[in-house]
Amino acid sequence: MKKITIAIDGHSSTGKSTVAKQIAAHLGYTYVDSGAMYRAVTLFAMQNNLISAADFKVNELIGSLHDLKIDFQFNPDLGFSEVYLNGTNVENQIRTLAVSSFVSQVAAIPEVRYQLVKQQRQIGEAKGVVMDGRDIGTVVFPNAEVKIFMTASAEVRAQRRFDELINRGDKVVFDEVLKNVKERDYIDSHRANSPLTKAEDAIVIDNSALTPEAQLNKILQIIQTALETK
Ligand code: DC
Repeated sequence: MKKITIAIDGHSSTGKSTVAKQIAAHLGYTYVDSGAMYRAVTLFAMQNNLISAADFKVNELIGSLHDLKIDFQFNPDLGFSEVYLNGTNVENQIRTLAVSSFVSQVAAIPEVRYQLVKQQRQIGEAKGVVMDGRDIGTVVFPNAEVKIFMTASAEVRAQRRFDELINRGDKVVFDEVLKNVKERDYIDSHRANSPLTKAEDAIVIDNSALTPEAQLNKILQIIQTALETK
């Protein structure tokens, strides 16, 4: 069976990673969460006092990028790969609201994007990959056989993120989560370097009112067609 590349882009908290993991499991493909890589760089910057509400040492962060190793290791209990920063599993630490509130600024730095895109292309070289992010169909894999662009209203997305954070035991206020979702939309869509845009040949899925099952079936159908025709 031939292997293809599947790019899943879209707004934050649209459930990209959930559906991407399901697709990867279904096809036996490798799943790569590119947002986790930007989050890991952000965590590194926070741990090394390079970024805070008061200060952002961009040049120092760029200078220390070579000290930073990000990789993925498959966790058989979970059925997907987790992200490691310099050998430490940071899968949980990268999902906090603190990291979320700085990550768009870090993801806007061209040198950070250059390094991470290079690594993403290496991971996807052999095909058989499902990668989710913001620029996968436009920049990382412009020749991907399947490109999906996921979206939903900001309120629906904030509610999902809020529930996720509360379930983890984080103390958060809904309005703050909504504000963060809107701010990230704005920064992600307006940055000079690789802004969040739909690839011309991407298929849009608005899942504001779509059940997870309906969404998965729809995407699997799109993939099936691509496997038969491309
Ligand atoms: O998908 P996520 O919410 O975990 O992504 C975290 C941040 O990283 C988000 O603000 C956008 C940025 N990002 C990006 O710029 N390019 C990607 N390919 C993936 C994520």
